[in-house]
Amino acid sequence: MTRASLSMKPSSFKTNLTLRSLSTRATTYKLNNGISIPALGFGTFQDPDSQEETVSRALQKGMRLIDTARVYDVESQVGKGIKKSGIPREEIFLGTKLWCNDYHPEDVERALDDSLRDLDTPYVDLLLMHYPCTFKRGPERFPRDAEGRMIAGETSYVDTWKAMEKLVKTGKVKSIGVSNFSKGEIETLIKESSTVPAVHQMEVHPYLQQKSFNAWLKAQGIHVVQFSPLGNMNDFYRQTGWSKQVSHMMRVIDQPILKEIGEKYGKSPVQVVLAWGINNGRSVIPKSVVDWQIEENLEADFRLEEGDMERIATLDAKARFNDPSLDYEWRLYSDLEGIEGTVRGKTH
Ligand SMILES: NC(=O)c1ccc[n+]([C@@H]2O[C@H](COP(=O)([O-])OP(=O)(O)OC[C@H]3O[C@@H](n4cnc5c(N)ncnc54)[C@H](OP(=O)(O)O)[C@@H]3O)[C@@H](O)[C@H]2O)c1
Repeated sequence: MTRASLSMKPSSFKTNLTLRSLSTRATTYKLNNGISIPALGFGTFQDPDSQEETVSRALQKGMRLIDTARVYDVESQVGKGIKKSGIPREEIFLGTKLWCNDYHPEDVERALDDSLRDLDTPYVDLLLMHYPCTFKRGPERFPRDAEGRMIAGETSYVDTWKAMEKLVKTGKVKSIGVSNFSKGEIETLIKESSTVPAVHQMEVHPYLQQKSFNAWLKAQGIHVVQFSPLGNMNDFYRQTGWSKQVSHMMRVIDQPILKEIGEKYGKSPVQVVLAWGINNGRSVIPKSVVDWQIEENLEADFRLEEGDMERIATLDAKARFNDPSLDYEWRLYSDLEGIEGTVRGKTH
């Protein structure tokens, strides 16, 4: 029996069992290169044994944006899920991410080819640099020295970016972008290359709203895709030491404000949280391997009134859950909000 069939759905929320209901939108945005990206997407981090089946079912239910990454080790399951779904490849926006041991400019195209082979597709719609930090090139994804410390690579994220720019010309990649970059790191890329990233995938949810950074990205024409859109819903954040000081906060979706707002629209707190991201002009990529949750998430694209958006804005706690700075030996997000929880010495 799968986890999907074991998980119980709370009885108080109704979801449409097949397709999006009439009141639910299917928002898309235009990236800075003219390509469309859906507002609502599907994450694939973790649960590798379920991904083939859940990707297939999520596509059949109406998801059209799939987010994956080389380091998740699920690309072949994702590729099989896409085939199994029967949905034509050109109707799907598929994104993957390069991992940090493949950032040397001479490794970038080969790394993409590995992803394309496993995804069983001739192209991806989006290729992201997963983090700005570069690790030693070679087969080790987390190359460490005898003392267990990460070994840095010899090239920079700017070199990697320039190699990614060339890939767009091959047709194997439609758009390129970054993930987990600071403002300063993106400014460096813009200054030193001829391509403004199409996307920044970063942690955003009601506890980490990053209003000024989001406004700046918008002004640059960089579309934001929110990862961990449900905040500290993923147990991973309670298990790692990445965010010890904040990971045990009340779950975002248990905030009473969200329940109250949801009742007005006949929606669950999860749907309100996802709608908040979409109403801010961003994409959201919740991950789920549970059928009713995927259906619930698909019904999360609806209009929230301004007053409700303002109430959700009060939940901002500058609480960042995804901060592997100490592990990766790279001060991530250095000029952004939400780094107080992981200052050296406090969390590891
Ligand atoms: N770029 C990056 O560095 C980065 C970092 C983190 C994540 N990501 C991407 O973002 C995706 C999502 O992030 P995430 O997995 O950390 O967090 P998330 O999507 O915010 O939360 C996932 C958790 O929420 C549960 N969930 C999903 N929908 C639900 C619903 N309707 N009701 C109740 N629970 C629900 C899931 O349960 P089940 O698992 O039991 O279904 C899972 O435990 C990842 O899969 C990945 O693709 C990218």
